[in-house]
Amino acid sequence: PPPRDLAGVKVVVSAGPTREYLDPVRFISNPSSGKMGFAVAEEARDRGAAVTLVTGPVTLPDPAGVQVVRIETALELRDAVLAAAREAELVVMTAAVADYRAAQRAGEKQAKVAGDVTIHLTPNPDILAELGQHKGQRVLVGFAMETHAGVERAALKARRKNADFILLNYPTREGTAFGGDDNEVTLVRPDGTSQAWPRLSKREVARRLLDEAVRLRTKG
Ligand code: C5P
Repeated sequence: PPPRDLAGVKVVVSAGPTREYLDPVRFISNPSSGKMGFAVAEEARDRGAAVTLVTGPVTLPDPAGVQVVRIETALELRDAVLAAAREAELVVMTAAVADYRAAQRAGEKQAKVAGDVTIHLTPNPDILAELGQHKGQRVLVGFAMETHAGVERAALKARRKNADFILLNYPTREGTAFGGDDNEVTLVRPDGTSQAWPRLSKREVARRLLDEAVRLRTKG
């Protein structure tokens, strides 16, 4: 059986993609399946945590014994995560948050016009960085997908966002990351030290992620 090392601990997990609407029927998004975040939520639940899972649109059913909040946009994700995180001791951001949203979301479906169109995008808030600014005693964990200079870029992100560690993955390895059941990640700390894990099921990645978070919590 799993260890009960998160008994009574409040954990917030974000998962899935966000949708940034251009008009009522069109949006910018990404292929995140939510599987990694759901695995973290289920593993934390099984170790005794009180889990809130804030998820973008994915096809996965609500896990039993987890409080699930379904959102669509990055702004909705932010509101839900910040509200749930107030009481939390561990926050794991696996959500693939869109970096930008439409500067103006049209209230009605935009008709096709002749020739090119321009869409103005405005940056979304960085939720993990906001949590990092008011970190308190919380352990903060992020994910990052990079195509190059992964460890350096992930360490820089961990420092900028005040995260305790980041799990780095690559979009190009078959059967891993977006949509896959497995993941091949490297744990990267703010000081630049890192540890490459072998290819593992997302559930096993979740297990090791929580082991590391528990070690950090007990170190204080
Ligand atoms: O997109 P980026 O590589 O910076 O994502 C790193 C981490 O920051 C991820 O854990 C992601 O969920 C989080 N993030 C966020 N808000 C954003 C962008 C990313 O919380 N707007």
